[in-house]
Amino acid sequence: MRHLMSPLDFTVEELDRLLDLANDIERNPEKYAHACAGKILATLFYEPSTRTRLSFESAMLRLGGQVLGFSNAASSSAAKGESVSDTIRMISCYADICAMRHNKEGAPMVASRVSGVPVINAGDGGHQHPTQTLTDLLTIRSLKGRLNRLTIGLCGDLKFGRTVHSLINALVRYDHISFVFISPEELRIPDYIREDVLDAKGVSYREVERLEDVMGSLDILYMTRVQRERFFNEEDYVRLKDFYILDKKKMKLAGPDMLVLHPLPRVNEISVEVDSDPRAAYFRQVQFGVYVRMALILTLLEVNI
Ligand code: CP
Repeated sequence: MRHLMSPLDFTVEELDRLLDLANDIERNPEKYAHACAGKILATLFYEPSTRTRLSFESAMLRLGGQVLGFSNAASSSAAKGESVSDTIRMISCYADICAMRHNKEGAPMVASRVSGVPVINAGDGGHQHPTQTLTDLLTIRSLKGRLNRLTIGLCGDLKFGRTVHSLINALVRYDHISFVFISPEELRIPDYIREDVLDAKGVSYREVERLEDVMGSLDILYMTRVQRERFFNEEDYVRLKDFYILDKKKMKLAGPDMLVLHPLPRVNEISVEVDSDPRAAYFRQVQFGVYVRMALILTLLEVNI
């Protein structure tokens, strides 16, 4: 039985196969409409979510399966003090596969150790968000035609942003990738990513504060939200929340093929006037998230069509 805790749980070859499957689902949805008939997905969300939870549910329903779960820890027995380990033991009796989001780093890993069904990390604290990364990889590969030879700008909260941490981990395995990290001093990429991931693999990167200075050099601009829920103090959040606002003026500095991605939700960091720019790909990214989660469910349940 396999779980998904980090994008590195799949080899590059396995990822290629998963993304191929997602593209086939996109082209031939009817072929997969009953692939998970009789199977149940549990969504255990201890932290708020719109896209991840609902795209998992949509994915399972589009595969002909069914879903159950909770979207709020307060409405589960976690509020009475039940541990994640005990909860997943129950869920293993009720469902065939589980997607879990938790505010504590490592909680889905703890669950996977005692689970009788595959566990998918749907985001754990500031640590990892592997299914967002699968979504990002599918979006980039589908719209750019490749996952190598890319200069990727990551902008915003690079310190707490789990989507950023997972994406860096995944992309360093491809050839000729370079990163531009765009953040205020307080939200720079953590040392462990700089040292253990980037330096260890000899990946090229630079760190800058001004978005305007690098727009023209990027193939992908990955914007992120400054996350109020990760700050210890409201004053720091208020000072940093509008540090970056991508608007039409800044988009003029970018190349004609640069794509703007964002895991969403956005707050102010991308002005709505950018939404109509053909380079704005963040809503197309949401659609890719359903296909890739369908492919992931099929892969972990070992359903072959
Ligand atoms: N991208 C993402 O994880 O969105 P949600 O928090 O709405 O699930």
